Amino acid sequence: MKHQNRGGNLGDIAKAGSLHQYLIDLHKQYGDITAFWMGQEFVVSICSPELFKQHSAVFDRPAKRKLYALVDKVLSNRKQLRKDTDDALLIDVLLDSTDDKELIASDALTFVIGSFHTIGNMLTWAVYFLAEHQDVQDKVYREISQVLGNNDVEPETIKDLVYLHQVIDETLRCSVVAPWVARYQDFDSELGGHKIPKNTPVIHALGVSLQNEKYFPQPHRFDPDRFSPENSKSRPTYAFQPFGFAGKRICPGYKFAYVEAIIGLVTILRKFKVEMVEGQTVTQTFGFVTHPTEEIWITLQER
Ligand code: HEM
Repeated sequence: MKHQNRGGNLGDIAKAGSLHQYLIDLHKQYGDITAFWMGQEFVVSICSPELFKQHSAVFDRPAKRKLYALVDKVLSNRKQLRKDTDDALLIDVLLDSTDDKELIASDALTFVIGSFHTIGNMLTWAVYFLAEHQDVQDKVYREISQVLGNNDVEPETIKDLVYLHQVIDETLRCSVVAPWVARYQDFDSELGGHKIPKNTPVIHALGVSLQNEKYFPQPHRFDPDRFSPENSKSRPTYAFQPFGFAGKRICPGYKFAYVEAIIGLVTILRKFKVEMVEGQTVTQTFGFVTHPTEEIWITLQER
C-alpha cells in the first residue's frame, strides 16, 4: 500500500509542530485508534489504556542496527583521539571496562541515549514545576526533613518519600518526557477490532494518554495529588505509562530514573529554595524527548 502523495502526512506533522502534537489532534478527531502516512509508510497509533493493554505483549523486534553502527564509529574515533588527551570521559570509562565491543556499544546506548537526555530533561522540568508551585515545594521540603532529617537518601528510606514520588510522577505526566514509542509487528494481527497488516508500525501515543482528561481532569494543571494512593486507585494502570509498557523493551532504567531524580531533588531542595526569574514564558519542544524551548532561569535562595 502506497500513498499517492510522497510525503503523506509529513506536512501536517510539520504544521502541528511535532509528531506528539499531531497525534493529539488526530486522536481528538478519530478516537483511541487511528492511522496516518509517515511519508510512504502507513502507521497506526493507539492511545487508550484498553488498547495499550491489548498491545502489551506485542512481538518485539529491536531496530537498533543503524544506531549500533553509529556508536561503533564514535567509539573507534575516540580510541584514536584519546592518544592525544589525558581527560577521561564516560566513553573512556566504557572503553576501559571490557574488550567486548558489543557490550561497550550497548552500554553507550543505554547511558548516553536512554539515560542522559531523559533524566536531564525530567529534572529540569521537576525544578521548573517546583519553582512555579511554592506550596508543592514547601510540602516536599517538609517531607524531606521529616523522613530523612540530615541523613542521605538510603535504599531503606527512599520509599518513604511518598509525596516526592508523586511530584516525579506528575512531572513525567505534565512534561511528557517521552511522548511516543513504536513497535513493528511482523505478523497480521487485530487491535481494537481493526486488522493490522504485518510490518505496520504501531505507535504507542504515551503522551496523548498522559493528557487524557478522562483520567487526568484539567490535564495541563500540575497537581501531584493526582498520584496520591487514594486518587490513583480508580485509574487504570495503563493510563500512566511514561516509560513504555510493551514486550521486552519497556525502559530498563525506570527504577534507576526515580532513584536518580530523588537524590538530585533532595540534594537541591534541602539546601535551597528555588524560584522562577520573573517574566519568562516557558514552552515545550516535543521530539524523542521533550525539552524546554528556551533555557529556564531560576534563582537559588539558601535555606
Ligand atoms: C525520566 C527518565 C526516563 C524516561 C521517561 C524513559 C523513557 C523510556 C521509554 C518511553 C522507552 C521506550 C520504551 C518502549 O519502547 O516501549 C525507554 C527505553 C529505554 N530506556 Fe528509558 N527512560 C528514562 C530513563 C532511563 C534511564 C535512567 C536509563 C538507563 C540508565 C534508560 C535506558 C533506556 C534504554 C536502554 C531503553 C531502550 C530499551 C530497548 O529498546 O530495549 N532510560 N525509556
